[in-house]
Amino acid sequence: MSKILTKTLMPDDTGLKDAAGILASGGILAFPTETVYGLGADATNDAAIARIYSAKKRPKFNPLIVHFSDLAMVKNHVFWPESAEILARAFWPGAITFVLKKRAKSPLSRLLSAGLPSIAVRIPDHPIADRLISIFNGPIAAPSANPAGKISSTSAEHVLNGLAGNIGGIIDGGKCKLGLESTIVDLTKHPTLLRPGSITVKAVQRVLGEKLISGQTKNVVKAPGQLSSHYAPRASVRLNATDKMDGEVLLGFGQMDCDLNLSLTSDLTEAASNLFAYLHLLDNGRNTQIAVATIPATGLGLAINDRLERAAAPRN
Ligand code: TXA
Ligand code: MG
Repeated sequence: MSKILTKTLMPDDTGLKDAAGILASGGILAFPTETVYGLGADATNDAAIARIYSAKKRPKFNPLIVHFSDLAMVKNHVFWPESAEILARAFWPGAITFVLKKRAKSPLSRLLSAGLPSIAVRIPDHPIADRLISIFNGPIAAPSANPAGKISSTSAEHVLNGLAGNIGGIIDGGKCKLGLESTIVDLTKHPTLLRPGSITVKAVQRVLGEKLISGQTKNVVKAPGQLSSHYAPRASVRLNATDKMDGEVLLGFGQMDCDLNLSLTSDLTEAASNLFAYLHLLDNGRNTQIAVATIPATGLGLAINDRLERAAAPRN
């Protein structure tokens, strides 16, 4: 693929207008959200959506999330069950994505949903994403802004390292606060967890007043997190390490001797926000083996462990 110029834009009026212009002309553009950076395109433009798949080298059967800035706009495109109303009231704008049935009249590109009758939708909680969507004045389809299967991006530098030359631009909004992707819940049937994420399963269940069905199966591709190898550094990854073996660098958690520590105080929110950034730092091309300490499998730890297990999975 021939390289294109990737413009770095500031999140001011001029930058955001330029960014919306790139989207309006069918280009693709990375922008910050509170979870990770997204790689955005006009959600109604097939050619622009095709550019996302090609820039990321993403398998075409893996659908994208559509980002909105207001609820009325969301409801124009999807059927809106009571469960969506309840969860949106509690968590939007925020780090939860709903899979909902698409309305027949919706002009969203069929490419972005990989031919499925459903659409994944989210209203991000980030002032830059919100202003960009408002200025563009339409839904923006965006997967995470990283080459397919690799570590997600929580800073503009991560995005540029992975995608410079393949995307039209990036809005530099600094570090993403949460650092871990949204939780994905399928609401086309009994609420089903497709991907654990920044909002805990427990919090979702508390608001819904019922248990989520687990829709995560290791080998059936329903969400990208469900492919076995994902979030993969170049280095190999060994989990549940208590110390370093020869040739390893150690990513720690809690009080321990290590190269980088996700959270000295064993705080899972802090660990989630550091996870991808520290994997990028340790995966510097010189280290070939990354060992990672045990992360408690509760609350946000479930989402952190989901990412780590896939980072450690056999590569294909
Ligand atoms: O926090 C996030 O969710 C970030 C930011 C940018 O919003 N986005 C993100 O996108 O993580 P991505 O593509 O890396 O993961 C979202 C996944 C898709 O890969 C896809 O498998 C799943 O959501 N998905 C999208 N549409 C779906 C659908 N109709 N049914 C089931 N899963 C769907
Ligand atoms: Mg992703």
